[in-house]
Amino acid sequence: MKRIFKTAVGIVFTAACAMSVCGCNGGNGGDADDGLLKNIYKDYFPVGAAVKTGVLDLYEDLLPHFNSVSTEYEMKWAATQPSEGAFNFDLSDNIVDWAEQNGKMVRGHCLVWYKALPSWVLREGTTKEVALQRIRDHVYGVLEHFGERAYCWDVVNEALADLPKQYQLDSGEFYRTGAEAAGVECGDWYALCGNDFIKEAFRAADDARKELGLDIQLYYNDYGLNIPVKREACLKMLEEMLSEGIAVDGVGMQAHYYYGDFSMKEFENSVKAYTELGLDVQLTELDIAVYPYSNSVPEIYAELPETIAQIQAAMYGGIFDICRRYSAPWKEGAGTITGVTMWGVADDGTHLDSAFGRKDWPLLFDEEHRPKLAFDAITEFYGKSRKQ
Ligand code: G3I
Repeated sequence: MKRIFKTAVGIVFTAACAMSVCGCNGGNGGDADDGLLKNIYKDYFPVGAAVKTGVLDLYEDLLPHFNSVSTEYEMKWAATQPSEGAFNFDLSDNIVDWAEQNGKMVRGHCLVWYKALPSWVLREGTTKEVALQRIRDHVYGVLEHFGERAYCWDVVNEALADLPKQYQLDSGEFYRTGAEAAGVECGDWYALCGNDFIKEAFRAADDARKELGLDIQLYYNDYGLNIPVKREACLKMLEEMLSEGIAVDGVGMQAHYYYGDFSMKEFENSVKAYTELGLDVQLTELDIAVYPYSNSVPEIYAELPETIAQIQAAMYGGIFDICRRYSAPWKEGAGTITGVTMWGVADDGTHLDSAFGRKDWPLLFDEEHRPKLAFDAITEFYGKSRKQ
């Protein structure tokens, strides 16, 4: 019953939103008047959402807002090659088939990561040469399967240290390793291969797309890339790879942001820095938690406080304003923002609830699938918001 109610409510609100955003203000014309994010942003970039097995029906009321999807788990190594040489695309193809049937682009997430990694890949006794060959085999097998059904890939995910220190930046030892690469379904690529695993992953993906004739883009994806010291580490890594002729097309800023722990200026500085390298930028996992990352929260909220909802909306508004501004060439040779993907569809399905064991409300739609103030903040540039 709850799902049916949610769907009905969601459809009513989406329709209401469409009428108010487009109804009497004339909007900018075209189909953007239907109030759907994908159409309001059709002149800027695709707007995506992360989905996973079992949620496509739950979000049938909201998924029309998006023209791109990522998979939260189903395209990762643990799901696609759980044992050596035995590829399995059942879970991923369920979502990719649905995406194609519903006119959605697909972001491939992700090829090489220290997490969601089957234990066989870096098992005891694996040499660097064997590990790099396993990367080549995995990358080729996955790209051969999906072809151009995924228009871009996070080739390597989270290879940088969680938050590098200045001494690590100075020594060049700013990659994820040791305790930061440990855990269930995890492996320490850097300990065995140094940063060659990153380079080999991108070389393998570039070789594969050439051999298979695929017009797809290759991204480096990580979180915290708006933080100055991590931005410097990322720039150093990318400059080294580009100087060696390694093909990298873009930077995926995951954009998991936190109330009270965020600088809009540094966010824009990062967008400028990565696009000045000639790379495109995407926000690949955007959500804005209502607690500061520092986790020193005075209280656990029973519901989203109005004051925080307003600040969250202002953050979303500022971020999307910057994304729109950098979605067109802003400097000779610079890259642009080519997509924004939310890491989830609505507040009843956020990874944050399990990440910190407390309810969070980080997305654009609430638990009843209604547009939040954050939704208004990123659409009012287009015309009158829902409120009027
Ligand atoms: O383990 C089962 C597996 O056996 C089963 O086949 C599969 C069926 O879907 O489910 C698996 O369960 C869990 C899976 O999510 C279900 O979606 C995994 O145990 C669990 O580890 C996995 O968590 C995902 C996590 O990445 C690790 O892959 C989260 O949903 C996903 O939101 C999270 O996303 C990451 C990005 O990839 C990288 N950036 C950070 C972001 C948040 O942590």
